[in-house]
Amino acid sequence: KSWPKHFAKTDLVIEAVFEDLTLKRQILSQMEDVTPLHTIFATNTSAIPIRDIAEGCARPANVLGMHYFSPVPNMPLLEIIPHDGTSPEVLERSLRIGTKQGKTCIVVKDVPGFYVNRCLGPYLVEVSALVKDGVPLEKLDASMKEFGMPVGPITLADEVGLDVGSHVATFLSKADLGDRMNGGDLTLMQNMMAKGWLGRKASQGFYTYSKDSKGKEVKTINADVRAYVEEFADRKLDLSTEEIQNRIVGRFVNEAAKCLEDGIIDNPAVGDIGMVLGTGFAPFRGGPFRYLDQMGSDKFCGMMMDMAERYDGKQFVPCDLLQEYAKTGKKFHGR
Ligand SMILES: NC(=O)c1ccc[n+]([C@@H]2O[C@H](COP(=O)([O-])OP(=O)(O)OC[C@H]3O[C@@H](n4cnc5c(N)ncnc54)[C@H](O)[C@@H]3O)[C@@H](O)[C@H]2O)c1
Repeated sequence: KSWPKHFAKTDLVIEAVFEDLTLKRQILSQMEDVTPLHTIFATNTSAIPIRDIAEGCARPANVLGMHYFSPVPNMPLLEIIPHDGTSPEVLERSLRIGTKQGKTCIVVKDVPGFYVNRCLGPYLVEVSALVKDGVPLEKLDASMKEFGMPVGPITLADEVGLDVGSHVATFLSKADLGDRMNGGDLTLMQNMMAKGWLGRKASQGFYTYSKDSKGKEVKTINADVRAYVEEFADRKLDLSTEEIQNRIVGRFVNEAAKCLEDGIIDNPAVGDIGMVLGTGFAPFRGGPFRYLDQMGSDKFCGMMMDMAERYDGKQFVPCDLLQEYAKTGKKFHGR
């Protein structure tokens, strides 16, 4: 009952309720009832298209996505996502607010997963494929840390939460990424959710989190998780660190390039900033597009086509833009 009074002078509402379209629409409608006409309604959804949330609302021009990254106080990136009906003035105001909050803002297109999580979709699927191929969890983490990621994919899944990660990956596998979400098995995370192994927040995910005698956190992999992962695997490939890196990074970087091809990001600099500040992508490599320039798109495409053949998987086929760059020798940054 006190809402009209409390919200009467609100300039911005940032909604961060459960990732559920109906609930998000309901909150938007409740906010429209009690906020002034100029109030911006920003949703922190991880992957739901903003136009779906804005559909049928009273003031669609005031709605946009402001997607923060976890843990929010530490992560510098903010994705700002206008939908087709967002007014330019609302976009500009939200950019100013995001910058005042100390974030580096990138504007990205309104598609499932936006930019950063869209790229994490194929990444997570490939991790599940590697677990199916019998690669030990510790080796997955160690390989990606060696590539330069701040944490490996198994630790990342525990940090984000198996429920949140699984929800986003499952959502993206039903979205518009086609073959690019193939080749894995997302029941890896869904089964863990059912067991209550939700990650660090539950002290149990892939790792078990406990404290040693000095109160320092230790993480170990317990017998139940080992048994689960062994049962989940259907073969035991003895893959090299380089092969593990190529499989994960290859799909991650290919998706970033596909985002550029599809206009989800405006240019390679935005793509590099988003990936480094949003996921910690090996900072010394400068982001996916600098990485591609350094390696050469022709060499990258060769590596991907080779994996597509060896694993009989279209998910490794590089996007058209990369194939064009490979042919012409063009670079993403400069000449
Ligand atoms: N966890 C992440 O890493 C992350 C990162 C970026 C964005 N997000 C997005 O942020 C949103 C929240 O995610 P989370 O991880 O914080 O989830 P969470 O489950 O920790 O928090 C959801 C909150 O919503 C509240 N809530 C549910 N129904 C409500 C209602 N009717 N009215 C008011 N509050 C209500 C719950 O009480 C809870 O506090 C989701 O859309 C998620 O996709 C999460």
